[in-house]
Amino acid sequence: MSDALPRPAGVTSTPIRFHFRGRLHEVSEVASTSSILDWLRLNARAVGTKEGCAEGDCGACTVALAQLDDDAPGGVRISAINACIHLLGMLDGKALLTVEDLAPGEAPLHPVQQAMVDCHASQCGFCTPGFVMSLFGLYEGSTQEPSREAVCHAIAGNLCRCTGYRPIVDAARRAYDLPPARLDRAPLRAALEALLERPSLDFQAPAALGGGRISAPSTLTELAALYLAHPHARILAGATDIGLWITKQGRALPHLIHLDRVPELHVLQQQGDELVIGAAVTHSEAWPFLVQRLPGLADLARRFAAPTVCNAGTLGGNVANGSPIGDAMPPLLALDSTVRLQRGTEQRDVLLADFYTGYQTNVMQAGEFLSAVKVPVPRPGIAFACYKISKRLDQDISAVCAAFLLELDEGVIVRARVAFGGMAAIPKRAPGCEAALVGGTLGAATLLAAQTALAHDFSPLSDMRASLAYRSHIAGSLLERFWLEVSHPTSLLRVEQARASA
Ligand code: FAD
Ligand code: FES
Ligand code: FES
Repeated sequence: MSDALPRPAGVTSTPIRFHFRGRLHEVSEVASTSSILDWLRLNARAVGTKEGCAEGDCGACTVALAQLDDDAPGGVRISAINACIHLLGMLDGKALLTVEDLAPGEAPLHPVQQAMVDCHASQCGFCTPGFVMSLFGLYEGSTQEPSREAVCHAIAGNLCRCTGYRPIVDAARRAYDLPPARLDRAPLRAALEALLERPSLDFQAPAALGGGRISAPSTLTELAALYLAHPHARILAGATDIGLWITKQGRALPHLIHLDRVPELHVLQQQGDELVIGAAVTHSEAWPFLVQRLPGLADLARRFAAPTVCNAGTLGGNVANGSPIGDAMPPLLALDSTVRLQRGTEQRDVLLADFYTGYQTNVMQAGEFLSAVKVPVPRPGIAFACYKISKRLDQDISAVCAAFLLELDEGVIVRARVAFGGMAAIPKRAPGCEAALVGGTLGAATLLAAQTALAHDFSPLSDMRASLAYRSHIAGSLLERFWLEVSHPTSLLRVEQARASA
């Protein structure tokens, strides 16, 4: 079967095109797996953006992306991302802003930069461009002075070893006292619209640079045909997992098919009695949508990675990647979610509980991809909560992640869902525990029976994050915590209130 993406006659590759430093850039001479950070530092010699960890963890490489979005101010969405794990090909059709763009030439410092100076928020300065860009993303996202909590969240992906965070948080808020300097979005929007006149990308990297290809089809039909024709290609969503395979594992990825240009995969809406989240929807978009309908997800959503990762990574990528410690799966399993899969013109829906077949393997066939995650609209009155246990509050991998759902009818449990990450080779429901819950009441006897059954549902591993004994113990304790929250909501409300005012 031939390639589905049309190319002009005689043209074998389209260059990567993006807006940078006020003009269009066309890049052909890079490896297909080149990161934005490498291009900036090695090709463009724009070295204000730093490299620390090269795995999305430290924020030294933070830059901002601008892309068309009718729901964003001026029709342009600005989001901070990690340049070290974002591939240059993913920039096609977008604009790139780096720390040098904030105060070019003789221009005065941007309010965020000036406030960093005024608050003594930098010492060695290595982390500073990254903090500035995360705070720039926050500044461009709202004209209102952010709360301390919002600032801390915005910089959750930025590490500083020497200054201490208090002056940085102060600077973030002080910026709003300075004369405003907002991005002029009208010319940016015009430039982005012009870029998107070429709807798809098919970039073949030069053989001398290692070859490789990135395709970005612009319709679902093109995507499905292209993947069917090239089943050994790798689907590329936000690259927050794939980026690390390149930077940390040195893996060769000969052909990547990027999802971002497919409008159908950006769907985020309620359709009948389901919440439909397209495969190109980022965590930053998906979690607020889900939390609005399921407040029990709020804490997990707040602690899922950092905004720089969530602005790129997708919910669909989390599910498709299928890490046993992926955080989205326990709640999605507890909510009886399904995934929509597509292969060529054929579509099928698979219950998430039946999706995984083993460690990072699943039921998807060659040429088949996940087009959406579908979550049943939660029924009123269900008790639902999830908990993430990790060593650090922000930007940390779970040792254990748990989600619980109970439906009661006149005090009797009629439906129970208990799902865990970090307890097995795949994210998994706990069938014995669920069975022990159904038919019981919210009393101590049911809890004890459920905890006993839970201990037989899993044989977790010991690894650097947690031991087998710890994981088994914490799983039972989390069930107990959920139990207390459901049985004594008012006393727990007092605990929450006390915490909030502490
Ligand atoms: P990609 O990296 O693009 O792809 C990942 C895999 O899924 C690839 O195999 C790809 O081929 C496949 N894939 C992607 N989309 C599809 C599709 N639609 N159909 C078929 N296959 C597909 N994860 C957590 O769970 N919790 C965290 O707190 C967390 N913190 C992180 C912090 C950092 C610093 C980093 C770098 C990552 C973190 N992650 C975390 C992991 C990561 O962000 C998620 O797994 C993310 O959701 C992956 O989505 P993506 O769009 O980036 O996928
Ligand atoms: Fe550390 Fe990119 S270099 S997040
Ligand atoms: Fe040195 Fe932050 S100022 S690491």
